[in-house]
Amino acid sequence: DWTIENFIEMEIAAIKERVGDRNVLCALSGGVDSSVVAALIHRAIGDQLTCIFVDHGLLRKNEADDVMKIFADDFHMKVIKVDAKDRFLSKLQGVDDPEKKRKIIGNEFIYVFDDEAAKLTDIDFLAQGTLYTDIIESGTETAQTIKSHHNVGGLPEDMQFELIEPLKTLFKDEVRELGTQLGLPDRIVWRQPFPGPGLAIRVLGEVTEEKLEIVRESDAILREEIANAGLDRDIWQYFTVLPNIRSVGVMGDTRTYDYTIGIRAVTSIDGMTSDWARIPFDVLEKVSTRIVNEVEHINRVVYDITSKPPATIEWE
Ligand code: XMP
Repeated sequence: DWTIENFIEMEIAAIKERVGDRNVLCALSGGVDSSVVAALIHRAIGDQLTCIFVDHGLLRKNEADDVMKIFADDFHMKVIKVDAKDRFLSKLQGVDDPEKKRKIIGNEFIYVFDDEAAKLTDIDFLAQGTLYTDIIESGTETAQTIKSHHNVGGLPEDMQFELIEPLKTLFKDEVRELGTQLGLPDRIVWRQPFPGPGLAIRVLGEVTEEKLEIVRESDAILREEIANAGLDRDIWQYFTVLPNIRSVGVMGDTRTYDYTIGIRAVTSIDGMTSDWARIPFDVLEKVSTRIVNEVEHINRVVYDITSKPPATIEWE
């Protein structure tokens, strides 16, 4: 009968059989699905797997280092990290429309991935973390056009690879169980959803390095306090946004005119609808105090109390 242990054993045999002595490429994002795919395939074929991890400079605090530590250092996988921050930021310069930002980031991801893949020889397969639900949903793509939800993981159509999609019969909870069985840490297996375009859609309007830094630091504080309060498994998604609002405040004897941070935290089953999370006031207070004290250019913190619909989870 079906157990995760049996699944692992059978998939590993199937991957070995199919790949033989050839090589597999995987786009690793640090998200649950690509992480589990990489770990599974690595267990089957070891160094015949190469992962490309694109750091687009729009990741959360410490995220790139953490991904490298887990996969390169702890799992001893071949991971190529591409520092593409400058490429992405220069393409995003002067762009303030959310959908244009998404498109630019999605396209640039493909160019960067392509450039790296072209340097590798002897790759026959491309591994992808497609789940059962992705297959079902792609039949009804119209529901997704409210925002173009292209995962930054979408790959060039003209690539000459055979696809390996070992998770395509699994649901998300099974993927998490698989990840745990494969030895992935909880912070990967239970990671909250994080959009492909990353912090670029949480800096509202034009993306600058300074604004990314503000949202990154405030987000790190929120995540730390949510974890301290033991709420990280109860809340589906929680993050900060930097709207283009400056308002008057007072610091000591001086009047300030600085940015506002928005806190977004929602409960949800699948991200299609959501309710705002009832974070206890004392936790919110701590987050707010820390953000104004520790993050430069912030003099006000607000809490988003809208459900989806009518709002969306992200602000862009
Ligand atoms: P919204 O904002 O539409 O978000 O309520 C629903 C879920 O989708 C995520 N999201 C994205 N994920 N690329 C992604 O990979 C995107 O462009 C994108 N936009 C939203 C969002 O974080 C939430 O989990």
